Amino acid sequence: MCRTPGMPCKKKSYPVDLPVASVVICFYNEAFSALLRTVHSVVDRTPAHLLHEVILVDDNSDFDDLKGELDDYVQKYLPGKIKVIRNTKREGLIRGRMIGAAQATGEVLVFLDSHCEVNVMWLQPLLAVIHGDPHTVVCPVIDIISADTLAYSSSPVVRGGFNWGLHFKWDLVPLAELGGADGATAPIRSPTMAGGLFAMNRQYFNELGQYDSGMDIWGGENLEISFRIWMCGGKLFIIPCSRVGHIFRKRRPYGSPEGQDTMTHNSLRLAHVWLDEYKEQYFSLRPDLKTKSYGNISERVELRKRLGCQSFRWYLDHVYPEMQIPGPNARPQQPIFINRGPKRPRVLQRGRLYHFQTNKCLVAQGRPSQKGSLVVLKACDYRDPTQIWIYNEEHELVLNNLLCLDMSETRSSDPPRLMKCHGSGGSQQWTFGKNNWLYQVSVGQCLSVVDTLGPKGSVAMAICDGSSSQQWHLEG
Ligand SMILES: *[C@@H]1O[C@H](CO)[C@@H](O)[C@H](O)[C@H]1NC(C)=O
Repeated sequence: MCRTPGMPCKKKSYPVDLPVASVVICFYNEAFSALLRTVHSVVDRTPAHLLHEVILVDDNSDFDDLKGELDDYVQKYLPGKIKVIRNTKREGLIRGRMIGAAQATGEVLVFLDSHCEVNVMWLQPLLAVIHGDPHTVVCPVIDIISADTLAYSSSPVVRGGFNWGLHFKWDLVPLAELGGADGATAPIRSPTMAGGLFAMNRQYFNELGQYDSGMDIWGGENLEISFRIWMCGGKLFIIPCSRVGHIFRKRRPYGSPEGQDTMTHNSLRLAHVWLDEYKEQYFSLRPDLKTKSYGNISERVELRKRLGCQSFRWYLDHVYPEMQIPGPNARPQQPIFINRGPKRPRVLQRGRLYHFQTNKCLVAQGRPSQKGSLVVLKACDYRDPTQIWIYNEEHELVLNNLLCLDMSETRSSDPPRLMKCHGSGGSQQWTFGKNNWLYQVSVGQCLSVVDTLGPKGSVAMAICDGSSSQQWHLEG
């Protein structure tokens, strides 16, 4: 089920005359070791003739070792291609990247988070696509580095989407997008990007309006640039043969300087500039924001006009036809009909969802017909039909032929629960991966048992780490 970069990627070769890259890494109070792991992996795993420079932007960190010690380290062990820029006040990730990009002189910009490890042959597949079409923006597959053990594991290939709360989510790649002439190595069209890691022609980055400098610190900028790319004539792809590991932290370790909700401020700006009539979809979920101020957006509205961009409706129709549109702007033809048709999806497997470590089965906490019911581990009872799950071709897990295992997309820290099957993927898509893990596509995490020794048997989503608390088997 998990596609990992195996032989097909290893067999690919890339032109020698690729454009050179400036790698821009913004950091704020990053662990010294994590930053060095990022920088060293870039220096060690990028052919020297393709690495024009690495630009480190220190966003006015407080940590002492990120000052003199970092400068000394760079001079001693990484001389030549590393530049360190120091912001004199906190600018945030969004303006920080613009500051780094303004100093860059390579033909291609590559943005990386400061807690990554690039894999072998990570850059050539990205550069090759940009070389072929400078109006294409590309993302590597983001592999998982556990924040607890720092172990590296590969992720399934998924693509970016979003929900009407304007949160990014992962989606399984629709079948129609897979299996072109290059099979599993072909670029995959992605409606949005996660934001931390991508590469883009530098001149194109500038022409397309960089980022919205009225956005603060962090949040929403990834959707804004994704919409802008597609709506204004560009393309956005995930490149399966390029892999970069990323440390997934359980919580964002820092906030904004005055504790503002920058995600909401930024989302409002993007809604007012790019969403047209579909901003009503956002406001119907967040009516409190309808009258909230969002600063001056006239420059961004002007940019959209100047670039002659398409409507948001065009984007939904052409780039993300799988998106469900409830409410006032509902599409005449809901994709649910396309996905599901009048028939039920084909059953792939049927059985109990067995947890190896505890020797128990996943069942409904209350009645299995109760919408919203949580799921827990209980003793397996081989005569009990309410313990039977169906795994179908839509990647849904249906309990007792009734309700689907579901993740809340707006409150992704909530544990999974049983909900009416909606047939539109995302929050109800699960894949069985290597290590017997059960991977939830939209949150990019694995189903995990919280208290393996306790009597309660609660489950929650957690970073996939291959541990025995995350091993499941659907058995007939
Ligand atoms: C908004 O910004 C534009 C250009 O940056 C400026 O011309 C305009 O006066 C500003 N509007 C307000 C209400 O401040």
